[in-house]
Amino acid sequence: MLNTLWSEHIQSSHELYVSRSLRFREDNADIWLPFLHIGERAKILELGCAGGALLHRVKQLVPGVNAVGLDRDDGHIEYAMAKSAELGLECEFIAGDALSLPFADGSFDVTFSHTVTGHVPMQAFLSEQLRVLKPGGRAVVWSVRTKLNLNTGDREPVSGNEKRLFDKLWDAVNDGVEKELHVGEYELSERGYATELEAAGFSEVELQFFTIIPYAPDNAGTPAELAEAQINEGRLAALSSVSKAARRAPGALSPAELAELELLINERYDARLTQYRRGEKLWDIATSTVLSATGGKR
Ligand SMILES: C[S@@+](CC[C@H](N)C(=O)[O-])C[C@H]1O[C@@H](n2cnc3c(N)ncnc32)[C@H](O)[C@@H]1O
Repeated sequence: MLNTLWSEHIQSSHELYVSRSLRFREDNADIWLPFLHIGERAKILELGCAGGALLHRVKQLVPGVNAVGLDRDDGHIEYAMAKSAELGLECEFIAGDALSLPFADGSFDVTFSHTVTGHVPMQAFLSEQLRVLKPGGRAVVWSVRTKLNLNTGDREPVSGNEKRLFDKLWDAVNDGVEKELHVGEYELSERGYATELEAAGFSEVELQFFTIIPYAPDNAGTPAELAEAQINEGRLAALSSVSKAARRAPGALSPAELAELELLINERYDARLTQYRRGEKLWDIATSTVLSATGGKR
């Protein structure tokens, strides 16, 4: 039976793809790419790769790598394979469990993950990476430190009917899917990442941070196409959130309420786009600060 719980109920492949494509861009690659320690011809494995946005970007920037992505969700893997074909990128995507990797010992130069820790038990996650790494290889674990993030935009409904309907819908979601998928069950402190890497047997453990600005439509350096894509990414996230919740709590909103909620979301983002096109600057901005925890295999 196909496992599509994550892509259907938690985050859709498409919303993750758009969000990560805007986060990990070519024009900001000098900020994030060096943290992956990827050599020109490295064999790399991304764990919990979802629809493959990060792996695709790495392959575009370092074309000589042998790139493999793994995720437990079959829907994500299907999406990733279709995107590889669409983009003409040679990446291998495999449906599998990061806690029991279908690879021989010593297969990879680098293993990495973005926003997967927190949802998996760390020792099982790290010990499998240590096993499949070559001697001298590195595991890189990226965790977004949400407490350090700024978001001055209005991505969430803040008031009025939109908020009332949004809250009514989400308050009715009570299907236990997060629990079943262990979402957020294994969150760690910053120092926890270092001690877990050491406990798993990694050497040369390092904790570093980088900050990306995924959303800044009014910045002078943000081209119009990117600015509009950034604004519309908020719309996509909000509409995806509504469609997921409506699937998970059918009947929580009447069809008329659901249509009203979607209309209100669209109106809010249309208004932001209009302001942008008129040159009205709001200076709303978001940051994403990532803890990059890494350890080497002796
Ligand atoms: C928050 S999402 C992040 C996805 C992707 N790294 C990104 O940043 O867009 C977490 C991902 O981890 C995957 N995942 C969770 N537990 C897993 C496991 N045990 N093995 C493989 N993938 C897993 C989920 O299916 C999901 O795609």
